[in-house]
Amino acid sequence: MKPTPPALPGLPLLGNALDFQRDRQTLFKKGYESLGPIFTVHLGPKPAAVLLGPDYHQVFFEQTDKRLNMDKAYGFLRAMFGAVAFTASPEVYYDQRPVLHAPFKREKMARYVQIMHEEVQRWLDSLGDSGEMDLTAELTTVVQNVAAHTLMGRAFREQAGSEFWALYATLSKGMDPLLPPNLPLPKFRRRDQAARRLREILTPIILARRDQADGQDDFLQEFVNTRLKSGGEVSDELIVQLLLALMFAGHETTVGQAAWTVIQLLQHPDDLARVQQEIAEKVPYGAPINLSLIPSLEQIGWAVLETTRMHPSADILMRYTAEEIEVGDYRIPAGWMTLIAPGMAHFLPDVFAEPDRYDPQRFAPGREEDRQHRFAIIGFGGGVHKCAGMNFANNEMTIIAALLLQQFDLELLTPEVRPLYGLGATRPGPSRIRYQRKAGLAPIVPPDTHTASDASTPACPHHTAN
Ligand code: HEM
Repeated sequence: MKPTPPALPGLPLLGNALDFQRDRQTLFKKGYESLGPIFTVHLGPKPAAVLLGPDYHQVFFEQTDKRLNMDKAYGFLRAMFGAVAFTASPEVYYDQRPVLHAPFKREKMARYVQIMHEEVQRWLDSLGDSGEMDLTAELTTVVQNVAAHTLMGRAFREQAGSEFWALYATLSKGMDPLLPPNLPLPKFRRRDQAARRLREILTPIILARRDQADGQDDFLQEFVNTRLKSGGEVSDELIVQLLLALMFAGHETTVGQAAWTVIQLLQHPDDLARVQQEIAEKVPYGAPINLSLIPSLEQIGWAVLETTRMHPSADILMRYTAEEIEVGDYRIPAGWMTLIAPGMAHFLPDVFAEPDRYDPQRFAPGREEDRQHRFAIIGFGGGVHKCAGMNFANNEMTIIAALLLQQFDLELLTPEVRPLYGLGATRPGPSRIRYQRKAGLAPIVPPDTHTASDASTPACPHHTAN
C-alpha cells in the first residue's frame, strides 16, 4: 500500500493552522521545497493533502464529483446562501447547472460589457480632476454596481444600493468554516436576520419578473426563463440562492484581481507604457469598449492574465476526499481534505520562466507559457466546475484597467502593497493612489450619477469580515 504524503511539522493540536491563516503561500512553499509537490498539512486536527503541479491539478479536477467532493469542502457556505452550485451535492448541482450557466451564454456578454463600460465611466466621472483614493475600496463599489446592474437590472442597481450591500456584508461576516453554523452566537443570529431581510427584498422582484416575462436582459431574467435539467421550474427560493451565490463567487474575487492588475502595472513602468500605447492606438476616448474590441487589447489581456498568475483571488481550492485516491507515489485516505493552491502552483519554476518576475510578455506569441499545460494556470479552476464567470470577470478587469489608465495619470503611494489572506478571496491590503485627470478629457456622464465615492455606500463585506 502506498504511504500518505509526508507531513510538514506543526504545533500540537493546531498543526499548521496558524501559518495557514497568516500566510499560506509561504507555508506551501516550505512544503514544496522540503517535501516535494505532494505533502500533508494539518489544519487543526484535520489532515489535508496539498497537490502542486499541472498533472496533479488534472487529477484534482477529474476526480471532482467522483472521489473528491466539493459541497462537503465548501459546506460552511451553505448557511449563507443554501445548497446551490458549489455548496450543493453533485445530483442537485447537475440538476441546477443549466440554470446556473444560462446567464453566461456568449450572446449575453455584449450587453454585460456595455453595462461594465457605463458603470466604470460613471465612477471615473465622479472622481473629479485630482485626488487620492484607496484603489481596492473604490473598485469594491464599482464591482458592486456592475454586479447589481447585470444580475438584477438598472432599477435594482439604482434603488437597492446601500441596504442590500449592508445586508450582504452582514451575511458574509457570518462565514465560519470551523464552528457549527447553528450555534446561538450573535454573528450567526445577525447572519440569519440578514438572510431573511435579503429574501424579503429579492422575492417581490422575482415575482414581478415572472409576471412581466420579457424585455430585461439580466441574470435574473435568465433564471426565470430557464428550467432545471429535470424539467422543473426554478423556485423563487432557488433564484434568491443563485443570486447570493453569484455575488459571493464573483464580487470580491473580481475586486482583488482588478486592483492587482492596476497596482502591478503602476509598479512596472515599461509594461505600463506598452499598455498606454495600446490604449492610445485602439481605445478612442468616449467610444464604447465593446465585446469585439476586447480580444484586440492584447497587452491589457496579458497584464490581466499575469495578475491571475501572481495574485489569484481564489488562492486555494478545496475538496473533501470521499473515497481514497492515489496521486503520484501517495494515497490520500477517505476523510482527508485535498487542496490545490493556485497562489503557489503559479510560481513553479518548471512551468513558468523566472516565476517571481512580473512579465506579461510571457503570454505573447512565441512564449505562451500558459498554453504548455491545460492546468498550468488554475486561477479560475478547471474541469466541470471551472469558473462560469471567467470571461465576465476578465472583460470587467480589462475595461476597468483600460478606462482608468486612459483617463488618469496615476501614482502608487503605498510603497509595498501586501496581499491579505482571509476566509474569502485574497485581496490587496491598503493601496493608496494619487490620480490626476489627463488634460482635455472632460467627464462624459453628468455628475449627478456619481457612484463609487458616495459615502452612503458600505464597504466590501470582506474588508471588515476577517
Ligand atoms: C477574478 C474573478 C474570479 C475568480 C478568480 C474566480 C474564481 C473561481 C474559481 C477558482 C472557481 C472554481 C472553484 C473550485 O473549483 O473550487 C469558480 C467557480 C465559479 N465562479 Fe468564479 N471567479 C471569478 C469571478 C466570477 C464571476 C464574476 C462570477 C459570476 C458573475 C463567477 C461565478 C462562478 C460560478 C457560478 C462558479 C461555479 C461554477 C460551477 O461549479 O459550475 N465567478 N470561480
